Amino acid sequence: MTTTAASLRRELADTLAERGHLTDPVWRAAIENAPRELFLGPSFYRPSGTQWEPVHHDQLGVDEWLHLVYADTTWVTQVDGTDAADAPGPLAGRPTSSSTLPSLVVRMLELAGLRDGDKVLEIGTGTGYSTVVLCHRLGDKLVFSVEYDPGLAALAADRIHAAGFTPTLVTGDGLQGHKDGADYDAIVATCSVRSIPRSWLWQLRDGGTITTTISGWMLASGLIRLTMGEDGTATGRFTGDTIGYMLARPHERPPRPPVIRHPGTTRATLVDPNLIETWTGHFVAQLAAPSAELVSTSDSVILVDVATGSQAWTEPAGGGGWTVHQHGPLPLWDQVEGALATWKEAGAPDQSAFGMSVTDDTQTVWLGEPSGPSWHLPA
Ligand SMILES: C[S@@+](CC[C@H](N)C(=O)[O-])C[C@H]1O[C@@H](n2cnc3c(N)ncnc32)[C@H](O)[C@@H]1O
Repeated sequence: MTTTAASLRRELADTLAERGHLTDPVWRAAIENAPRELFLGPSFYRPSGTQWEPVHHDQLGVDEWLHLVYADTTWVTQVDGTDAADAPGPLAGRPTSSSTLPSLVVRMLELAGLRDGDKVLEIGTGTGYSTVVLCHRLGDKLVFSVEYDPGLAALAADRIHAAGFTPTLVTGDGLQGHKDGADYDAIVATCSVRSIPRSWLWQLRDGGTITTTISGWMLASGLIRLTMGEDGTATGRFTGDTIGYMLARPHERPPRPPVIRHPGTTRATLVDPNLIETWTGHFVAQLAAPSAELVSTSDSVILVDVATGSQAWTEPAGGGGWTVHQHGPLPLWDQVEGALATWKEAGAPDQSAFGMSVTDDTQTVWLGEPSGPSWHLPA
């Protein structure tokens, strides 16, 4: 088993290198040594239609199990708080923890630009796999990791210790950081946030970095590395990667009000609502209406604001255009349309044209330059 797992780890490293995800030999060594089977046993979920089907180690042959474990795939390990090992059968629901696909683990860590001697705070220990990749690279004394879910945190601690490492593991809300280990050279989040928590700014050294995905209630996502300047402003540009993580639990969406297609006030749209279905258009829409959710059908874009109950929905109009109906105190479509028009006027560039500036008081995402069009992130 050990030989097979070791050879599958080498094959995984080769695949990640061939695809350009793994460029640095020190990270390659970490991937070749981190035993993912330890972190995925005894069970994980695989998608099955609209459900999550538990896959148990003892139901599969060793070879099949290991080939799944070393696939460059995210394996969901918890759905709505139920661990795969405890699932009575396939479940419908929302993933609440997973082992992230190894190519994304190394993409984030390479992007963070970690060097020998760096002290790093990881947010979202999850299974513990990425924590152990970090320990292989930096040594466990320099690795701190926070997990919100106490059951997952305990399981991860056992597995990380079984892999031979004793980093500082914290059970709690990673949005508070971990001040006892500060100042960090880098903070890396494996869950996404709606805005950067202040504690992360306070616990980072000057010149330190925050690598995270910025997401929100429309579930659009952007990957960014921010660098802390001497004036206390963290700035950076989005990378343009089309990847996302599950939202940090305290930033999750509240329950959505029922979708009712109110006639509301009606007009023709000025931009094509389908722009919202593109990676960057989706992100722009989320910037413009941060407390709205997006519900799409084949011929309609529906926005529902969970804070005010405001709604907007589009429908095809005769002659090839679209009509929008808006209802409630927030003119959701006006907001989204204005932002989409600004982005279109700039040539509809991909996400790497956007950047972010974060201080204690304000967080803005800008287009082009910090002085360009900008949107505030929710506090
Ligand atoms: C995508 S998984 C992490 C993957 C993990 N790094 C791995 O390699 O297995 C995201 C994790 O973030 C955790 N999480 C969510 N919100 C959190 C928070 N506020 N603080 C710490 N952990 C959080 C979830 O419970 C989940 O385990």
